[in-house]
Amino acid sequence: MSDEIKKGLLGIVVDETEVSKVMPEINSLTYRGYAAQDLCAKCKFEEVAYLILNGELPNNKQLKAFEKQERKERKLSKTLLADIKKIPRKAHPMDVARTVVSIMGLEDNETKDNSPKANLRKAMRIFAKTPVALAAFYRARKGKKMIPPKKNLSFSENFFHMCFGKVPKKEIVKAFDVSLILYAEHSFNVSTFTARTITSSLSDIHGAITGAIASLKGPLHGGANEEVMHMMNKIKKPENALKWINNALDKKDVVMGFGHRVYKNGDSRVPTMRNYFGKVAKIKKDKKFEKIYDIVEKVMIERKNIHPNVDYPTGPTYHLMGFDTDFFTPIFVISRITGWSAHIMEQHAANKLIRPLASYKGSQHRKVVQLNQR
Ligand code: SDX
Repeated sequence: MSDEIKKGLLGIVVDETEVSKVMPEINSLTYRGYAAQDLCAKCKFEEVAYLILNGELPNNKQLKAFEKQERKERKLSKTLLADIKKIPRKAHPMDVARTVVSIMGLEDNETKDNSPKANLRKAMRIFAKTPVALAAFYRARKGKKMIPPKKNLSFSENFFHMCFGKVPKKEIVKAFDVSLILYAEHSFNVSTFTARTITSSLSDIHGAITGAIASLKGPLHGGANEEVMHMMNKIKKPENALKWINNALDKKDVVMGFGHRVYKNGDSRVPTMRNYFGKVAKIKKDKKFEKIYDIVEKVMIERKNIHPNVDYPTGPTYHLMGFDTDFFTPIFVISRITGWSAHIMEQHAANKLIRPLASYKGSQHRKVVQLNQR
């Protein structure tokens, strides 16, 4: 048994998956064989959610049934609503996200049933209810009344409606929809692998997704989109960007929104998201962040040959859409619930307890000395 340590499981293949793959031959992330940018151009988020969960793109009849199911499940229990109102307003929305999923687990009648059909039903409930619960907290922490979900609105429209009380113009909704498609799934990233590890002991989907949310919160993972906005706010103006980023690199700082474990020549999702960031900036008549974006990117590539990842364009896009900065990663959550759920079901379908080895470097064997002699 080789004792060679691969810290961070760097380059280690631990299992098979059919959910997604970054295909070098087309330099694109693919979901069930479809290129993500192709899906962004031709589908709305609900079609992609169906694809990731079920393995095929829906036809019209299947899509209508899926949407009907998702919209029906948006309703929150009175208990959960009351609990959300009791959450401290200073709580980080990512901690709220994992808490509300945990509470849903307490209420769910099928928690003990890990069959494929029950897990798909539970996945739909978590998928439908989490945005509603998060939007309820978004309002509650501002001392505003919760806005109930509307069944005649799409997943993306409804999130804007519940947070802001209105649905923006269709180009803004499309940009949001595209961000959800790009965020939906990315193979064995750390939060998905966390979900699979929890599942491997045959624990339940609510626990696995709660763990995944905790992992996604980290700034090296999903929390990066929030950190990108903090960085841009520190830079403040485009004329400060060049000095700021060179100073950061001189100090050997980790620059959020850049780098990736898998992509070493650029995250295939960035060009699409960058394009929609530009569309939103144009509509909002605010080019400042785009200018900062381009200057920082240029220096990162020139000095370190480190390219942006998907969190870099999504951060400023969500800011321009009007979302609070600490709500950026929760938006990642409401999309990634689809990918996590697909992997949880895949893990159940061909499970093996995940239990790696450690190379021990602690004390050798020694005898215990009684307390009165120590
Ligand atoms: C996501 O895995 C996924 O698929 C994740 C994700 C998904 O969809 O699920 O794509 C979403 O999490 C994207 C990543 C978001 N995180 C960030 O933007 C945080 C900043 N990025 C870095 O922390 C880093 O790039 C990682 C953690 C994302 C990846 O790092 P690795 O693969 O562990 O590589 P590393 O940290 O060892 O870096 C290798 C070298 C180091 O330099 P040396 O020590 O060898 O001199 O590159 C440097 C690093 O210092 N480097 C960076 C950097 N990223 C790597 N230097 C400055 N800024 C950075 N962002």
